[in-house]
Amino acid sequence: MSGQVLVIGRSGQIATALGNASWPEGFTVTLCGRETADLREPAEIGRPVAGGDWAAVVNAAAYTDVDRAESEPQAAYALNRDGPHALAEACKRAGRPLIHLSTDCVFDGSKAAPYTEDDPVKPISVYGASKAEGEDAIRTALAEHVILRTSWVFGAAGRNFVTTLLQSARDRHELGVVDDQHGCPTAAQDIARAIVHIVASLMSETSGRFGTFHFANRGAISRYDFACEILRQAELRGLASPRAFPISSAERGSAAHRPLNSVLDTARIERIYGIKARPWQPALSETLDTLLGGVTVQLEGAGVPRPR
Ligand SMILES: NC(=O)c1ccc[n+]([C@@H]2O[C@H](COP(=O)([O-])OP(=O)(O)OC[C@H]3O[C@@H](n4cnc5c(N)ncnc54)[C@H](OP(=O)(O)O)[C@@H]3O)[C@@H](O)[C@H]2O)c1
Repeated sequence: MSGQVLVIGRSGQIATALGNASWPEGFTVTLCGRETADLREPAEIGRPVAGGDWAAVVNAAAYTDVDRAESEPQAAYALNRDGPHALAEACKRAGRPLIHLSTDCVFDGSKAAPYTEDDPVKPISVYGASKAEGEDAIRTALAEHVILRTSWVFGAAGRNFVTTLLQSARDRHELGVVDDQHGCPTAAQDIARAIVHIVASLMSETSGRFGTFHFANRGAISRYDFACEILRQAELRGLASPRAFPISSAERGSAAHRPLNSVLDTARIERIYGIKARPWQPALSETLDTLLGGVTVQLEGAGVPRPR
C-alpha cells in the first residue's frame, strides 16, 4: 500500500488544514472538492475511492451550517448520513480505512462532566442528529473506521467563531456573546495533525486501532470568555476592540439548539494513539498571527474569565 491519502473536501477548514499539514515523507494527499466527490451523489462517491491506491480515506466534508440545517433537514441528512454511508461502503469494497469527522453536537449537553466516547448520544438539533446517524451508518458499513469527534473548530481559513467575531469587531461597538455554552475550542491545524498521526499509525500497524475517538484542544471555556480572549489578543495586534457582553442562549435565539456542555474527554485518543492535545490558547495565538499579524503575546493567564 502506498502513502496516498484521499481527502473528501477541499476548501473546508479541516480539508484545507489537511492539505497544509506536514505529512511524513512518502505521503501524498489528494483533496477532492464537491465537483469530483459530491456527497449528495451516493452512486458517484465510490469513484474517487476506487480510483487510487489509497492508504486511507478522510471525510472532511459535511453539511456544517448548524442553524440552517433546521430548515434544510433533507440536505443535512443527505450530506451527513447518506453520503458518508455510501463512502463507507465504497471504502469497504476497496479495502480502505475511513477517517470521518464528527461533532460534539451529537450530545445534548446535560452531562455535568466532559463527554467520553461511551456516553450515549442524544442530539438536540437536526445537524447533531444527522451527524449521529452518519456515525451509525459508518459503524454498520465498515469496521475499519475512525470516527473523530471534535468541537468548536477555528482556523485562519473559512468561516468560524474566530473569523466571524473579528468581522463583527470591525463592524460593531458592542457584541452580545452567549455565556451559557461551554466547550473546547479546537484549531483545524491541530485536528489535521492528529489525523496525520492516525493515518501514519494505521499504516504501520498490522491490526488497526479503529473506533470512535474524541479530539479537542485542552481547556474548557464559555463562548463569551473565548470571545473576550479573542478580542483581547486582537487588540494587542492593533484591532480596535468592541465591548463584549454576556447573553444567554435563549436571548440569542438561534434557530438550532446547541449543547450547553460540549466538553470532550480526550483520554482515549491519548491512551490509544498517544495524541496529546495542546491548550487552545497558543493555537488561537497562531491563528490570529496569520489573520492579523504577529505580536509578542503574554499567554500566562490567557483564557481566565474577565470580571463581568
Ligand atoms: N466547524 C466546526 O466547528 C465543527 C465542530 C465539530 C465537528 N466538525 C466537523 O468537522 C468536519 C469538517 O468541518 P469544517 O468546519 O472543516 O467544514 P466547512 O469548513 O464548513 O467545510 C465543509 C466542507 O464540506 C464540503 N462539502 C459541502 N457540500 C458538499 C458536497 N455536496 N459534497 C462534498 N463535499 C461537500 C465542502 O466542500 P468544498 O471543499 O468543495 O467546498 C467543504 O470542504 C465536519 O464533519 C463537521 O461536522 C466541525
